[in-house]
Amino acid sequence: MPKQPGRRPQPLLPGLCNSALPDNFHTDCVTFPAVSLKRRIAIIPGDGIGKEVVPEAVKVIAASGADVEISQFDWGADRFLADGITVPPGGFAMLERDFDAILVGAFGDPRVASNIHAKEILLGMRFKMDLYANVRPVRLLDVALCPLKGVEPKHIDFVVIRENTEGVYTDAGGVFKQGTPDEIAVQEDINTRKGVERIIRYAFEYAERHPKLDGSPRKRVLMCDKSNAMTHAGGLWQRVFKEVSGEYPQIQTVHMYVDALCMQMVRDPRQFDIIVTNNMFGDIITDLAAALQGGLGMAASGNIHPGKTSMFEPVHGSAPTIAGKNLANPFGAILTAAMMLGHLGLAEEAKKIEAAVLAAVQQKRTTQDVGGAMGTSEAGEWVARKVAGSALPNSL
Ligand code: NAD
Ligand code: IPM
Ligand code: MN
Repeated sequence: MPKQPGRRPQPLLPGLCNSALPDNFHTDCVTFPAVSLKRRIAIIPGDGIGKEVVPEAVKVIAASGADVEISQFDWGADRFLADGITVPPGGFAMLERDFDAILVGAFGDPRVASNIHAKEILLGMRFKMDLYANVRPVRLLDVALCPLKGVEPKHIDFVVIRENTEGVYTDAGGVFKQGTPDEIAVQEDINTRKGVERIIRYAFEYAERHPKLDGSPRKRVLMCDKSNAMTHAGGLWQRVFKEVSGEYPQIQTVHMYVDALCMQMVRDPRQFDIIVTNNMFGDIITDLAAALQGGLGMAASGNIHPGKTSMFEPVHGSAPTIAGKNLANPFGAILTAAMMLGHLGLAEEAKKIEAAVLAAVQQKRTTQDVGGAMGTSEAGEWVARKVAGSALPNSL
């Protein structure tokens, strides 16, 4: 009997290559692996309070019922001090290939004075995985958390979009005549046309696609630089901002020098929708912005390259002085987990988590830094139970 030509199957999974199949291949006699919607998440708690807050975030993800598969990695100071390894060979390629997202705690340990492991792991992920948009939402959940007078939750809902792969963070430069009175240190500020353009465009696209929590649109994109002093880099940012903004005529553009922006952020944070800026200014203004939300313990962030495996981390560091004491606020990490789930398309789970954190803040079921009396694990447990919808005992 003549053989029927085999119908070539459509690719079922990304990466499954049909060209590897023989010509006489019959689809009806082969079973393909089922397409799984389970999101694969790599967890890297890191150092200090990262090791306390990330487990709380994981607990809350589990309580949300999100269809995820979690794998944990021990990259951080302990591992580095034990075997000298910061990122195992092929580590970033593995993250990209095997995971849909990465949830990170923090890196920094007084025993590693050079901070080399933080540079290689954290900045390594940002740079080598080209996670060019550092998205740092700034939201006030409760009036009691804001150090400014008369500022209410409806007044603070803006997002800082920080360039994440260039600027002074490239660490280009060097030291000459080190240890002599003539020592010279050069730290270059690298700004490429491509890098500046893609982050500015990301900011406009973000403004278009992400309304505020109350449903109102984000109407303004503010670009902040220091072009009055740093004329070369600032000039490029100015030109690109003008050019790209022309593609979004419905969105207002604003410019501020970074020093003036800091003043305005304290004087009247109501005016901001989206702020786009370079790597270093973005780092500095997001600690200031965190203070508007109740402190570093409340601030979430994502390191994103659309379409690629992205990395999510709270804005805070490893806080060595409070590490290991059950004092750290886990809400920044938990809100970061919600941001990650939202990014992975699990919007319902993300909303449940955000609502539970809001309830915790409103009911003062928090750590001390934001006015409560709970420890890290108790606050995390309270949110997890709230998310799961189970009864909350009075003691919690
Ligand atoms: P930090 O964010 O660790 O701490 C700054 C201050 O905020 C401290 O007073 C700390 O106790 C407090 N704080 C931070 N997070 C808190 C939380 N969740 N709950 C309660 N209080 C909190 O910044 P730092 O002190 O400048 O840096 C400490 C180490 O962390 C350094 O090694 C630094 O390089 C590193 N760091 C890492 C990251 C990161 O991995 N993403 C970010 C910032 C700093
Ligand atoms: C942050 C941190 C990092 C940064 C440090 C740890 C290199 O401060 O994520 O904000 O400057 O980006
Ligand atoms: Mn920072």
